[in-house]
Amino acid sequence: MRQKLVAGNWKMNLIYPGALALISEIIDQLGPAAPTDPVVVVCPPFPFLAGVGEKLPKGGTVHLGAQNCHQKESGAFTGEVAAPMLASVGCEYVILGHSERRQQFREDDVLLGQKLKAALAAGLKPIFCVGESLETREADDTFDFIGKQLKDGLFHLSNEEFAQVVIAYEPVWAIGTGKTATSAQAQEVHAFIREQVARAYTAAAATDVSILYGGSANAQNARELFGQPDVDGGLIGGASLKAADFVAIVRSF
Ligand code: G3H
Repeated sequence: MRQKLVAGNWKMNLIYPGALALISEIIDQLGPAAPTDPVVVVCPPFPFLAGVGEKLPKGGTVHLGAQNCHQKESGAFTGEVAAPMLASVGCEYVILGHSERRQQFREDDVLLGQKLKAALAAGLKPIFCVGESLETREADDTFDFIGKQLKDGLFHLSNEEFAQVVIAYEPVWAIGTGKTATSAQAQEVHAFIREQVARAYTAAAATDVSILYGGSANAQNARELFGQPDVDGGLIGGASLKAADFVAIVRSF
């Protein structure tokens, strides 16, 4: 079922007291959950997950997500974190395929496929990221590139598995740069993604999938981005670290 959703990706920021203060401010400023509220997901760094999760009101609209998981269920993988561990501390979502992990940690489609399966097996909902570089956009290859990322990275999932996935379109040139995609650029790519989902799965799957925009989204531009017919919300980096900005984005539908 297609849902409005805003996810805050805290990336590698804050220390524990700051993380607890941030989530408390977010909860306070959001106030009591209303049925019209979008789903809100906060994705703190691993060591803060359990503590941040304890602050979330039970049955509310704010959910816990992780920024990554390992592809294996358990074992001798020093320093890694498995999907069942995330589920055991209350995570419901996990970001996979973020461009920072694709670029800096060489995560490719094969590995991402394994991570998707591991996340789904643990009952987590993947937020699967795609997006083109500036070079790709300038070469007019955006649609081919994203089509390939979807085909190779995501469309191997079964219908049932795919129904658990949220897709995030994050143009790499817009991440942390202050250069947001225009609402027309975002809409064009989101519509393309939805069309590819209809081709790979069904028209109903395309109608139901939530597609988020990420890349310098903020309290000033969120309303226009979220007003596009195929933009169902946002994956927010920098602006998710200030409670007032994040809550303003949540309120931008
Ligand atoms: O996961 C979030 C995105 O990478 C967007 O980050 O809002 O700081 O540009 P940003």
